[in-house]
Amino acid sequence: MIDEQTGSQNMEHLDEGELIALIDKDRLPRHVAFIMDGNGRWARDRYLPRIAGHKQGIESVRDIIKLSIELGIKVLTFYAFSVENWRRPEDEVNALMSLLESYLQNELRGMMENGIRFYTIGRGNELPESVRKWIEKVTNETRDNKKLTLNMALSYGGRAEITDAAKAMAQDLKNNKVSIEEITEEFFARYLNTNGLPDPDLMIRTSGEARISNFLLWQMAYTELHFTKTLWPDFRRHEMLLALIDYQRRERRFGRTSEQVNRR
Ligand code: FPP
Repeated sequence: MIDEQTGSQNMEHLDEGELIALIDKDRLPRHVAFIMDGNGRWARDRYLPRIAGHKQGIESVRDIIKLSIELGIKVLTFYAFSVENWRRPEDEVNALMSLLESYLQNELRGMMENGIRFYTIGRGNELPESVRKWIEKVTNETRDNKKLTLNMALSYGGRAEITDAAKAMAQDLKNNKVSIEEITEEFFARYLNTNGLPDPDLMIRTSGEARISNFLLWQMAYTELHFTKTLWPDFRRHEMLLALIDYQRRERRFGRTSEQVNRR
């Protein structure tokens, strides 16, 4: 696990104020992405149904949003439902969809009060009609909020996103709206769901699995990865601060040498 190989493992005993004092406010990630794994195991450990783990997981989402606003992090992306998650038992899929709907209903006011812009990526057309309606309402009403963008990946898959983008670009080529010479990485990226959002600087995956599971495949080319054994419902402010400290200890070279980076 990366969290055991890097410096932050000796800091668990520090309190929140001490951890915040260690963070350089000028070098915060602009965009943090999360794979919220381990809800099922959290519930099983307590002899509870899996959905109880997802419900508790929403409390972690709330905690992380609040802390991020306090610190000044501008974009958060949560992998709430993957294209592969449709294969889960029907009652779990239905329960996740109703959780999502009630989350949107309950949080709209708080989003307005706290300057949160709601955004989604993924194949939204695959979601149930009632969820789609709430997504549309919350997205529209929060569109001008500036403090933080809360981006939910819903029915999302990185390969699906890249394939859809390639198809849309091919259609534009066919209709002579685009010429082959125009196609660059930046140009292609405009066809992705994340057009307009910065790439994630940091991706955090909980629960001890060390893989990226079809999440933001294009966007994570240079993202720092942080893996922790903590299950998502237990991933709260303290854990997030440890992850940020771990992130700030990394040297982001983007292909350059260490000497070049440190000379700048
Ligand atoms: C993975 O844990 C988690 C999910 C597939 C869903 C995550 C969804 C939420 C936290 C709730 C929805 C969020 C919002 C904000 C409405 P898992 O079920 O795979 O856990 P396991 O690996 O321990 O079984």
